[in-house]
Amino acid sequence: MSEQQDRTFMATFVTVLGILVVLAIALIFLARYVQHLAEPGEVPANDPLLAKRKAELLAPVGRVEVASAPGTGAEGAPPQTAAAPVPATGGADGKAVYQSSCFACHGTGAAGAPKVGDRAAWEPRAAQGIDTLVQHAIQGKGAMPPKGGNMALGEAEIRAAIEHMLRETGLAAGGTAKAAPAPKPAPAAAAGEGPDLAAGERVYQSACFACHGTGAAGAPRLGDRAAWKDRIAQGIDTLVQHAIQGKGAMPPKGGRADLDERAVRDAVAYMVSKSR
Ligand code: HEC
Ligand code: HEC
Repeated sequence: MSEQQDRTFMATFVTVLGILVVLAIALIFLARYVQHLAEPGEVPANDPLLAKRKAELLAPVGRVEVASAPGTGAEGAPPQTAAAPVPATGGADGKAVYQSSCFACHGTGAAGAPKVGDRAAWEPRAAQGIDTLVQHAIQGKGAMPPKGGNMALGEAEIRAAIEHMLRETGLAAGGTAKAAPAPKPAPAAAAGEGPDLAAGERVYQSACFACHGTGAAGAPRLGDRAAWKDRIAQGIDTLVQHAIQGKGAMPPKGGRADLDERAVRDAVAYMVSKSR
């Protein structure tokens, strides 16, 4: 390559570079100008109507209700999908929600929660009115986490669960939440000796999910391999014993005295299968 060619190349190179720099600056100014056009001064940025419209646009269009997971009463039913927030308690299954998300504390008194059936504990609370109770349950109160730790729940489900709890306590609930068939987890599946993972999943959903699905009370979460590794190393029999007797913040059988050993074993087997 001759010196002449080198010079010509450098000259072209510098020229191209210069054009690019000028173009970049021009684009920056153009962008600022366009942005200015898009924000006309006459609409204040904090216009409440605009904010409302924005919230409407950003609101989720649909949501999946997890309350009817298998084993919580709606056996085999497909998950319901609500296109819009359900009015009042329409369709929400209070008993199923209670079993899966509230029972761990309100069935056992764990964390100092007012127990279902304890009229003395509930009467002054119920006197606040259902709307206040719903607000407190959604926002959380004292040792109670917002929505009992299950953020997937909508207001209708929370309301239905509270009405179920009040009804079970013998207090008026003025609601229409439909009574679901008791989600008795199938005990002792007659088949074979091996763990029945399908039955285990149903037990898990109704009795263990409240803590092990959410990490509430410091429970090792389903699927969290790191949290389960050392526990699983103890062997399934030890895990089942601990689950039956309770351990640390975990109440015996997760608070479900009605479960037999077989049901707990299936649930533990299911949890282990999902967490290793
Ligand atoms: C991790 C434990 C825990 C879970 C899970 C839980 N709660 Fe609670 N809940 C509490 C405790 C503790 C209190 C008492 C709070 C207080 O008064 O300081 C409480 C209080 C309440 C109250 C009374 C509020 C008031 O104003 O007195 C309602 C209603 C309630 N819970 C509903 C629910 C519902 C519905 C669910 C399930 C979606 C649920 N809770 C799940 C622990 C729990
Ligand atoms: C009230 C919350 C709560 C409920 C409900 C609950 N657990 Fe737990 N579980 C815990 C906590 C907290 C631990 C950790 C205990 C520790 O290590 O001190 C735990 C630990 C365990 C372990 C590991 C024990 C070990 O030796 O490390 C098993 C297995 C287990 N739970 C099974 C179950 C089963 C099965 C159910 C349902 C029948 C259930 N749990 C319901 C809170 C709960």
